Amino acid sequence: MNILEQIAAKAERGDTGMSLHYGFLYSCVVGLESKNVFEFGSGYSTHVILNALEKTGGILTSCDVTDYSENPSITEFTKKSNRWNFYNGNSTEIFEDIELEQYELILHDGSHVGEEVLVDLNNIYPYLKNDGILITHDTRHHTLGEGMSKAVEEFVKDKDVEYATLPYGYGLTFIRNKGNVDSKVELTWRKR
Ligand SMILES: C[S@@+](CC[C@H](N)C(=O)[O-])C[C@H]1O[C@@H](n2cnc3c(N)ncnc32)[C@H](O)[C@@H]1O
Repeated sequence: MNILEQIAAKAERGDTGMSLHYGFLYSCVVGLESKNVFEFGSGYSTHVILNALEKTGGILTSCDVTDYSENPSITEFTKKSNRWNFYNGNSTEIFEDIELEQYELILHDGSHVGEEVLVDLNNIYPYLKNDGILITHDTRHHTLGEGMSKAVEEFVKDKDVEYATLPYGYGLTFIRNKGNVDSKVELTWRKR
C-alpha cells in the first residue's frame, strides 16, 4: 500500500483519535513544501509526516516523554528514516535542549494537560514561519477538550494568527501565523 492508501485504511479503521486527520496532516506537509516540521507527541503521525517529507526533502523533529522504542505506534519505516530527529523527555522540561529550526508545520499532540499545552505552544511559537501552520489535536475531546481548547484560546489571544477547528475526530485546531514576516513559508507550486 502506498501512503495515501495507508491513510485511507487508517481512517476506515478509526482506531485512534487522529485517524480522520492523517490526510489533512499529509496535505499540510506537502502543500507547505515543508523543509522542517516539529511534533510534540509521536506515533502514527510521525509515520505520515515522514512519508510526506520524502516528497519535500524535509526533516522532522519529534519530542516525546515515551521513548520511540517503547511506543507501538512507531513504525519500522519511522525507525529507519534518516529524516527524523527524536528527543526523549517531557517537552516542558527539555525544550531548551532541543536543536530548533524555523518550521512550516508544527503538530501538537503531546501533553494533554492544559497548562503544559500552553507552555508548549508559547515555547514553539517563535519558531513558526509566517504562513506556517500550528495544529493542536483533541480540542473537542469529550473529557480533555475543555482544557485543550482553553489553552488554545489563551495562546491565540495575544498572537498575530488566524485559526479554525475541525469539529470531528476529537477536534483539530489549526492556526496560521501572520507574524514572523522575516521568515516566510516559500511556495513554488504552480499549475502545470
Ligand atoms: C496521543 S499520543 C500521540 C499520538 C500521535 N500523534 C499519533 O498520531 O499517533 C500522545 C503522546 O504524547 C506523549 N506525551 C505526553 N505528555 C508529554 C509531554 N509532556 N512531553 C512530551 N510528550 C508527551 C505521550 O508519551 C504519547 O506518546
